[in-house]
Amino acid sequence: MSDVKLEDIVSLAKRRGFIYPGSDVYGGLSGTWDYGPLGVALKRNIMQLWWKMFVDDREDMFGIDAAILMNQKVWQASGHVDTFTDPLVECSNCHARLRADKLDDPNKCPVCGKEGTFGEPRAFNMMFKTFVGPSFEGGKVTRVGKPVDANGNEVENSDADKYDVMSYDPKAVSYLRPETAQGIFTNFKNVVDSFYPDLPFGLAQQGKAFRNEISPRDFIFRSREFEQMEIEYFVHPDQWEAEFEKWIKLVHEWCDALGLPADSIHELEVGDDDRAHYSKRTIDFEFDFPIGREELLGLAYRTDFDLGNIQRESKKSMEYRPKDGSPAFVPHVIEPSFGLERALMAVLTAAYTTDEVNSESRSYLKLPVHLAPVKVAVSPLLKNKPELVAKAREVYAALKKEFGSVMWDDNGNIGKRYRRQDEIGTPYCVVIDFETLEGDTKDSVTVRHRDTTEQTRIKIDELVDYVRTA
Ligand code: GAP
Repeated sequence: MSDVKLEDIVSLAKRRGFIYPGSDVYGGLSGTWDYGPLGVALKRNIMQLWWKMFVDDREDMFGIDAAILMNQKVWQASGHVDTFTDPLVECSNCHARLRADKLDDPNKCPVCGKEGTFGEPRAFNMMFKTFVGPSFEGGKVTRVGKPVDANGNEVENSDADKYDVMSYDPKAVSYLRPETAQGIFTNFKNVVDSFYPDLPFGLAQQGKAFRNEISPRDFIFRSREFEQMEIEYFVHPDQWEAEFEKWIKLVHEWCDALGLPADSIHELEVGDDDRAHYSKRTIDFEFDFPIGREELLGLAYRTDFDLGNIQRESKKSMEYRPKDGSPAFVPHVIEPSFGLERALMAVLTAAYTTDEVNSESRSYLKLPVHLAPVKVAVSPLLKNKPELVAKAREVYAALKKEFGSVMWDDNGNIGKRYRRQDEIGTPYCVVIDFETLEGDTKDSVTVRHRDTTEQTRIKIDELVDYVRTA
């Protein structure tokens, strides 16, 4: 387990504008989180790094962006309608609904403390169901029974009595996608027809996924709305083992690029009983989070399960025809599946550092420079000296043009500014002082380094290059 405390990360994330509880102003909505200016910047940096590493830098990868709402047949064919469930138990005393496989003591309700109040677990489907279009049964609104309260008891003389209850046409049912993967499989044939790539090749997608988790918990670790970055890598069935091994290495390279120490990543070979219904081999890559060693991302061999299902249900061929004239076949799939929120939580955990500067304790984010939401902060030493401010504005404009994620910071004294920037992980603070304006040091600035707190004098002309390569 990491030494970092979860509450320190949660508190920093909220205080400094990374992550806020969803719908906070109205008391929140469990399992949802909103990203503030720095959170969204960090998230995008992780997404861009992933896209560069797995799509742009390779010749065998194609990006796609499929719709979140898909035909319900997708989720029937994939097995999600029948089997995408978690075991749910309800306490007969306090009516808390809990995930049976996550209870510390299966006989004791952790909410009210009573023993023996759980019945048999029921399979709770985690997909969010919705209805597409203004379609409801028979084309008209029908009354289907009396209104009920949250516990399912009929309510007499309530306001709800005045309204009809609509019952929807089952054909209009759809789901918010619980994984981005299906949007990739359903586009396999489209991409093959457009590009006719050599095998093996991969399709990559980033986007939202939704799961109605029974017990969302541990900050953004288990959310009801989250983001996935997934690859379906199509291979000849004889090649899956060799390709799987390559992906294990690539996953470690990815963790390294996120700045996660190698000894905090652990491979868990998932046993037959615990693997998802579609997988013949899965490795969970676990990370030492503040909440313990938990799944960061997964690597699965999905065989031809998905393309085979689509071929059977849609009656459309999913076969790949090799260019050398050998027989056509349905490709098999290796699936590295990355959760963005878990990557972000791991990055924050690995980066969170405490030390002592001038006998005072400081906490800061030792983020890799390529992930830092703010690359450089620019300050005039004193904000009431117009000549300093004017010069600092010039420097700020030049850096902003070059790097984009540059912050103007003239709030409080210089020590406070350094601490604030350290806390959000800004690698460099540039300060324009009186020495910038005159004497031997004219047209030079101070660059202060986050990790060492060392300060270097750099010519303004050389600043862009210095920041780019430091
Ligand atoms: N397409 C395969 C798939 O979805 P998964 O193991 O269910 O596999 C993949 O999910 C990754 O998505 C996980 O390793 C995790 O990083 C992320 N993930 C899954 N459920 C999540 C949740 N409720 N909140 C945040 N991230 C989640």
